[in-house]
Amino acid sequence: MTRIVVTGASGNYGRAFTDALIAKGRAQDLILITRTPDKLTDRVAQGCEVRYGDFDKPDTLAAAVAGADKMLLISGTRVGARVVQHKAAIDAAAKAGVKHIAYTSFIGIDDPANPAEVRHDHIETEKLIRGSGMAWTMLRDAHYADAMILMAGPGVMQSGQWISNAGAGLEAMVWRDDCVAAAVAVMTSEGHEDQTYNITGPELQTFEDVTAILSEVTGKPISYVSVDDEQQYAMFDAMGIPRRPVDDQTVGGLPWNSDDMVTFGQAIREGFLEICSGDVEKLTGRPARSVRQMIEENVDFLRGAAQ
Ligand SMILES: NC(=O)c1ccc[n+]([C@@H]2O[C@H](COP(=O)([O-])OP(=O)(O)OC[C@H]3O[C@@H](n4cnc5c(N)ncnc54)[C@H](OP(=O)(O)O)[C@@H]3O)[C@@H](O)[C@H]2O)c1
Repeated sequence: MTRIVVTGASGNYGRAFTDALIAKGRAQDLILITRTPDKLTDRVAQGCEVRYGDFDKPDTLAAAVAGADKMLLISGTRVGARVVQHKAAIDAAAKAGVKHIAYTSFIGIDDPANPAEVRHDHIETEKLIRGSGMAWTMLRDAHYADAMILMAGPGVMQSGQWISNAGAGLEAMVWRDDCVAAAVAVMTSEGHEDQTYNITGPELQTFEDVTAILSEVTGKPISYVSVDDEQQYAMFDAMGIPRRPVDDQTVGGLPWNSDDMVTFGQAIREGFLEICSGDVEKLTGRPARSVRQMIEENVDFLRGAAQ
């Protein structure tokens, strides 16, 4: 029996990963870490082991990871503060004898000129993992299509405008479920030790391309409005979105902070996220799903948001 410990198990990514492992009959191999075990009582009922653990309380992590053979380290949410948090989890895993760690990283982070706010946390965490003595797999996820189509999409449908500082930059947005499927493959099959994968969608597109698809599929006229970084900040400020990340805070149901989003747009505009790979298919045996497919599968939801 190979036991897999999962951090961030109560989040969107962690829940989808857990569902997939349970569907494979692996519930009893899972150790799920959370700061609030009450959130995961459903998982106990399904046969998983749920343990208390907090990145900010390193002492809690030794017991949380004990007995695990592999770790899926799902990156935390406090951008800018995560290196210390992740280090606590990596140190605990290495000390407990975990043999293989997979980490949800981000594409395009090798270039120090990449302005994306998230870059620093991910590249530094990768360094810690490479130096930990454990075998590792970096799952460098592209921008989630879910974030732009399902989270930001309703606002775009209401206003008829997709406003962005990403200019004409290209990226290959990916379904979060495809990222999860890639993680499932890495954690449940052999041969992924010391590998870095770029987990991307199937094609490079600009936000203007995506706006045109959204408009075509939903039948709602939507224009792409290109703005500069200051205008983008002003827009988010007016929505009441904090510049810096704040734990567990959401605005309109969305866990946003504008430093993250504005530097993200800048990174796209400047070409740092222009990466498209076949790694989803290589890992899962089926092609990565497209942004168009996500829009088509959610067309009623998107049209409803425009009412
Ligand atoms: N590529 C992209 O475009 C993109 C977009 C969004 C997110 N992401 C990345 O994907 C990750 C997962 O996203 P998600 O949607 O699953 O996030 P989410 O639903 O917000 O879940 C966050 C998880 O982090 C855990 N967590 C937060 N602080 C913690 C702490 N101090 N100690 C232990 N656990 C802590 C929470 O666990 P408890 O509350 O149960 O303790 C929760 O399960 C994000 O953190 C981010 O790094 C990438």
